[in-house]
Amino acid sequence: MSLPKAELHLHIEGTLEPELAFELAARNGVTLPYADTDALRAAYRFEDLQSFLNLYYELMAVLRTEQDFADLAHAYLARAAAQGVRHAEIFFDPQAHTARGVGLGTVVGGLWRALERSRAEHGVSTRLIMCFLRDESAESAMATLRAAEPYLDRITGVGLDSAEVGHPPAKFREVFDAAAALGLRRVAHAGEEGPPAYITEALDVLGVERVDHGLRCTEDPDLVARLVRERVPLTLCPLSNVRLRTVDTLAAHPLPAMLDAGLMCTLNSDDPAYFGGYAGDTFDAVRRTLGLGDERLRELARNSFLASFLEDDEELRAR
Ligand code: HPA
Ligand code: ZN
Repeated sequence: MSLPKAELHLHIEGTLEPELAFELAARNGVTLPYADTDALRAAYRFEDLQSFLNLYYELMAVLRTEQDFADLAHAYLARAAAQGVRHAEIFFDPQAHTARGVGLGTVVGGLWRALERSRAEHGVSTRLIMCFLRDESAESAMATLRAAEPYLDRITGVGLDSAEVGHPPAKFREVFDAAAALGLRRVAHAGEEGPPAYITEALDVLGVERVDHGLRCTEDPDLVARLVRERVPLTLCPLSNVRLRTVDTLAAHPLPAMLDAGLMCTLNSDDPAYFGGYAGDTFDAVRRTLGLGDERLRELARNSFLASFLEDDEELRAR
C-alpha cells in the first residue's frame, strides 16, 4: 500500500538483504558461513530476540567501508520510497561496528552519503538516531556518545536497543542525561521482551519522547492509561513481534485493541530484511490479517508523522 507514511523504527543494519550481504562479502573478502542466499535465508528462523541478534551481529561482518554503509542505506531508501515512506528516522548501532574496528566516522560518513541525497533522489526526508547497545556497559555507551561529538550535526537523537531483559533503562541514566544536554532527542526500546516497568523507567529516568515497541504495556492498565493521557507514541513492529515470538501469530497481535484503547500507535518494520517486510508490506499485512479499516490505517499513517522528529511546519506540510 502506498499510503504516505513515516518510518520511525528501522535499524539500518536490519535492512541488509542476503543478496547485498553476499555482494559486500565478496567485495571485502569476507567469508560468510552460508553457502548462498538460500542457505542464509533458511537461517532466518528465530526463537526469540537473542537468536535473531546473534545472526544480525554476525552478518554485520560484511560492512566495512563508507561505500558499504552508503550502499546499504541507498538500497533501503529506494525500497522504502517504493512503499510510500516519505520520512525515515533511521537507527544505527555504532558499537557493533567500532567493536570490529570500523570507525564511527566510516559508519556515519557512509550513511550520510546516502541520506543527504535521499530527499532529491527518493523524495524521502531522513533523520539518524544513534542507538546504544544495552547489553554493553554504561561506560561504553558514554564513550560512544563522546566519540560521536564530531558528528552531532548529522545525528538527531539517541536510542537504546539489543538484548532487553536484565538491562533496564536506568542503567543508561547518565548517558541519556548527557545526550539531552547536547540537544539530542531521546527514544528507547522498552517492553519488547522486557516488563512494563521498563517502559515506565524509560519515560521517567531516560526522558524518552517515544517508546520503541512498548508492546507489553498492555499488561498494565495503569501504564496504558498514562500512555494514552500523555499521548506517548509507541513504535510498534508487528512482523518483528511474530518472527521473534513475542506474539503467537499476527492475527493475535494486540494492535487493534491498543488503537481502541486510545494509544498513539505507529506501524514500523524494525529489521525488514529479517522479518519479512518493509513499511508498506507491514501496512498490507495488518490490513489483511487484523482487518483494520481505512480509517485506522490513515490514523496509523498520520500518527507516524505526528510522532516524528520533523519540526519545521513547512517540512511537515510538504509530506
Ligand atoms: N530489538 C532490540 N534490538 C534490536 C532489534 C530489536 O527488535 N533489532 C535490532 N536491534
Ligand atoms: Zn528495534
